[in-house]
Amino acid sequence: MGAKDPAGSIVAGELTKTYNGTVRAVRGVSFAVRPGEVYGFLGPNGAGKTTTVSMLSAGLRPTSGRATVDGVDVGAEPDTVKRRIGVVFQESTADGDLTGRENLELAAALYSVPRNEVRSRVDGLLERMQIGDAADRLAKTYSGGMRRRLELAAGIVHSPRVLFLDEPTLGLDPQGRAGFWKYVLELRQEHQMTVFVTTHYLEEADGMCERVAIIDHGTIVAAGTPGELKDRLGGDIVTVRPSVPNPSLAELLAQVPGVVAAVAQDGSCRLKCTNGEALVPEIVAACVRAGVGLQGVSLKRPSLDEVFLEFTGREFREDEGLSATDRAVMVGRVRQQLGGRR
Ligand SMILES: Nc1ncnc2c1ncn2[C@@H]1O[C@H](COP(=O)(O)OP(=O)(O)OP(=O)(O)O)[C@@H](O)[C@H]1O
Ligand SMILES: [Mg+2]
Repeated sequence: MGAKDPAGSIVAGELTKTYNGTVRAVRGVSFAVRPGEVYGFLGPNGAGKTTTVSMLSAGLRPTSGRATVDGVDVGAEPDTVKRRIGVVFQESTADGDLTGRENLELAAALYSVPRNEVRSRVDGLLERMQIGDAADRLAKTYSGGMRRRLELAAGIVHSPRVLFLDEPTLGLDPQGRAGFWKYVLELRQEHQMTVFVTTHYLEEADGMCERVAIIDHGTIVAAGTPGELKDRLGGDIVTVRPSVPNPSLAELLAQVPGVVAAVAQDGSCRLKCTNGEALVPEIVAACVRAGVGLQGVSLKRPSLDEVFLEFTGREFREDEGLSATDRAVMVGRVRQQLGGRR
């Protein structure tokens, strides 16, 4: 870690924060976010997410450890870092007694956006975030989703290379979340922005982030692409249901290369395999060769909730009232809106 860290990257080395000499909020976290990447920092309440974001964004001095952001040492040049990044805080920061437009003009002034560019940037962002019609209304009259989009706009008014989002979709409904993510992903595509996002919505991170780190009690317990983390659980579950019960089916399918384990269960056969999607055709072919008629075959990928359980021994509590179905609908909607451009 040091001067050679590339523009747009975020590199943390053994970052540690102990509050008041006793609360060990962050206990030596290390990771490297690549330029242009959407990186998720996931963990339950109190895990140390906000503390980490605060240290990376030069708002809080680490007790020990180092970090560079956009190739700049955060400890040595905090002001340079602050100018180059955008931050959307967990707590709402929009001034309710200013209009949406005034909030953005204020942000532009704080970030020293050249005066002759302020008007066009603010207008462009208001339009972009679909708050153009409400631009001259006080921000306190905005819905939760509008407010978050306004705060996102304020965070990027100076076109930062690196954007930090701390629980940006907390409390938004699935439509509000889908809307927010659509803008984030579009913006990062256009500006090659690096996005560091914390969340405790695991399904959301699974759909939106290229790589994630799972943090618990101030320590990273697992990191990788969502797919890799789920693969570490031992793979996908493929369930094969024969037309007529077949006691030797598990034995037969255990022979298919790539199948890690096969067990008979309720008249079906449950297979654990590393790459279920690629293996389904092989499994079906093996059944056909053996003359076994099939009623159905289903594939289930393990979820990040199961990853969390595996690495911490605890259930990841989702308490925001958003069902798994709602989250799936939301992730699907954003992917559709982006039309496979990611
Ligand atoms: N200013 C502070 N003084 C003392 N302890 C603090 C302070 N800020 C945070 N903590 C403690 O540090 C730990 C990590 O807090 P942090 O806010 O970083 O967690 P988080 O992962 O962001 O949680 P949440 O999901 O609730 O936002 C918690 O135990 C918290 O109580
Ligand atoms: Mg937090």
